[in-house]
Amino acid sequence: MNQYVIHGGHPLFGEITVSGAKNAAVAIIPAALLVDGVCRIENVPQISDVTLFFSILEELGAKVRVLNRHAVELDCRSIHSTKPSYELARRIRASYYLVGALLGRFGEATVAMPGGCNFGVRPIDLHVKGFRAMGAEVTEGGFIEAVAKDGRLKGANIYMDQVSVGATMNVMMAAVLADGVTTIDNAAKEPHIVDLANFLNSMGADIKGAGTDSIKIRGVEKLTGGTYCIIPDQIEAGTYMAAVAATGGQLLIKNVIPKHMECISSKLQEMGVSIEEHDDALLVRRSEPLQRTNVKTLPYPGFPTDMQPQITVVLALAEGTSIVTEGVWDNRFKYVGELKRLGAQIQVDGRVAVVEGVGRLEGAPIQACDLRAGAALVIAGLAAHGTTTLGSVQYIERGYEDMVGKLRAVGADIEMVDLPEPEKQEQTVS
Ligand code: UD1
Repeated sequence: MNQYVIHGGHPLFGEITVSGAKNAAVAIIPAALLVDGVCRIENVPQISDVTLFFSILEELGAKVRVLNRHAVELDCRSIHSTKPSYELARRIRASYYLVGALLGRFGEATVAMPGGCNFGVRPIDLHVKGFRAMGAEVTEGGFIEAVAKDGRLKGANIYMDQVSVGATMNVMMAAVLADGVTTIDNAAKEPHIVDLANFLNSMGADIKGAGTDSIKIRGVEKLTGGTYCIIPDQIEAGTYMAAVAATGGQLLIKNVIPKHMECISSKLQEMGVSIEEHDDALLVRRSEPLQRTNVKTLPYPGFPTDMQPQITVVLALAEGTSIVTEGVWDNRFKYVGELKRLGAQIQVDGRVAVVEGVGRLEGAPIQACDLRAGAALVIAGLAAHGTTTLGSVQYIERGYEDMVGKLRAVGADIEMVDLPEPEKQEQTVS
């Protein structure tokens, strides 16, 4: 167990390069199970969720060859099992993608249900509805067990009752090798949906409409190998934008797709942050006091729920009262209690937080409770005066590549301190 020790109150200056998108990587790596060939994947973020997926694939019989820090070759030609071990699968929420990928390629999958939820109920009924519509028999319990009647799924028309990133991607994976055409309506439109479709198409799939709310997948007989480069991480970029908004200073945030950042950039601009768009970089500067605003999280292209804790920290430092409404998850304000220890004034009522800007936070000992909340508390610690110690940082390391190193390089006084491991915390994250 490690903790971060942050001596806050210093503005950030310099350049940060954003890594590959975590939520694209944790879909594309299991999607390689659909490929009867070798996939070379580039711009893979070096995070613990990715490492865990490599272990799961190896256990199923895949050859995983790490080429360098950010490139890997996955060879899934000799998979010998469709049952990833409970111990590995339960540790990562995105293990549900193993169901779509294994069911699509081999006609069967048995995968541990992802464990405890950390921001409210996280059902997978829409995933299951999609698999059933394609002719799978699905049983749920401690494991989700899915079997395609006659060994191969059949194309179907699927309407998602609610916009779901995971269900859209899982059904897409299941459908690429199905017999016939599958349509997904009311599909999610997040950048990583398009990235997964582009990956699968580059391996030989026939998917059209990804990025709109109607996706059409024509089943093909086989996916062969190829090379694919994962998109930059929208949320990692947004996190560093929020960091410089909170601390003041100027950061050039490199390796971004500015279009993906518009929902975040426009909110920060409303708050008085200056953002200059370059081809694949954003120059973010904050020299004036922060202004209040309201934020509501929504599916893409709305403001992302995975940026809600980070923007709330920035609003906690702004002048005036802001309202933050969580439009996706039931219980995503758990971190507010920790933020209050630093002096933030925030009242939460269900899915709404009323944030009274305080202008200044003071360092204190706090704990991360999930990935994005952890990142938000790092931002709070960087902005706060004095010393903040942040525990349970293993959550952050699941989704941010070398956050400490990247922040130190732009002037942050943050270091990781090893602590003896008292007890292992086993919770899933987004
Ligand atoms: C993904 C992201 C997570 C992000 C979320 C929303 C990954 C690994 N995680 O999670 O970081 O916060 O998208 O952008 O990519 N729902 C149902 N039934 C289902 C599935 C979802 O009712 O079968 C509901 C959920 O309870 C939630 C909403 O739909 O209220 C959105 O969830 P979803 O988009 O599926 O989130 P995840 O894919 O789990």
